[in-house]
Amino acid sequence: MKATQSPLFGSVDEVTERLASVGYLASTAVATTVYLADRLGKPLLVEGPAGVGKTELAKAVAASTESGLVRLQCYEGIDEARALYEWNHAKQLLRITAGQGNEDWDATRDDVFSEEFLLPRPLLTAIRREDPTVLLIDEMDKADVEVEGLLLEVLSDYQVSIPEMGTVTATRKPFALLTSNSTRELSEALKRRCLFLHLDFPDPDLERRIVLTRVPELPESLVDSLVRTVRVLRAMELRKVPSVAETIDWGRTLLALGMDTLDDEAVRATLGVVLKHHSDQTKATAELRLN
Ligand SMILES: Nc1ncnc2c1ncn2[C@@H]1O[C@H](COP(=O)(O)OP(=O)(O)OP(=O)(O)O)[C@@H](O)[C@H]1O
Ligand SMILES: [Mg+2]
Repeated sequence: MKATQSPLFGSVDEVTERLASVGYLASTAVATTVYLADRLGKPLLVEGPAGVGKTELAKAVAASTESGLVRLQCYEGIDEARALYEWNHAKQLLRITAGQGNEDWDATRDDVFSEEFLLPRPLLTAIRREDPTVLLIDEMDKADVEVEGLLLEVLSDYQVSIPEMGTVTATRKPFALLTSNSTRELSEALKRRCLFLHLDFPDPDLERRIVLTRVPELPESLVDSLVRTVRVLRAMELRKVPSVAETIDWGRTLLALGMDTLDDEAVRATLGVVLKHHSDQTKATAELRLN
């Protein structure tokens, strides 16, 4: 049986509105790509620097469409047993020991390779779910290249083969979203199966609106200065430029300290919220003439 997918969104505008209703502000490019991925039933690969809203986008798609979120967090060394499924060996052993003497081996073997002894991991879980599902494969670039092979089967046919049990095919395709920080190039084979979205820092107007959505208590004038200062910092050659997440944190910090203007004194006192390397702080302090 071929997996089907009833679209989650009716139009690009609906994507924008729904995401906004759960606090995610999407640019036209983001909303259009999400709409297309949903319509074409293709996985969406979102690449971009840290803290620009890649993971949050998957969470927002799930929340705004009342879909379940299944997350595969990638890391170096992640393998099939963590990504797809594994057998519960301890329970299988107990079962074999308990039946010893009373059963023939064929019956025991059939039994221990059945559902009861299977530990589904995120990819299999997502394939088997019958309710609307967003499958987030987060930080794909951290996984070894072999894991991409596993994903190819899952993302092109929406099926998983379990030799002892047969092939499990999705009855409903999950909306799959992969994220990457580009610490390594993903394979062409994987990219070919996905729609691609490069998510960069938002333009000043969008960033203002994002900060105001996340920290509505902030005065607009303060948000303007925050966004402007963050842009100045991003233009410097730093080891790690501040992301949207840090602009939001900076806003929360100023609010907590009861500061309502971002003067030199305030920047100096709170720079650690946005710049996390000593060398970056030194450089910014000099370039902003805060000394
Ligand atoms: N468009 C947006 N609308 C609303 N909030 C946003 C948006 N973009 C980013 N954010 C905020 O920025 C925070 C960081 O985003 P997120 O964790 O998704 O970043 P990321 O791109 O996955 O980063 P990393 O590569 O480090 O995992 C989110 O918690 C959210 O509050
Ligand atoms: Mg992330």
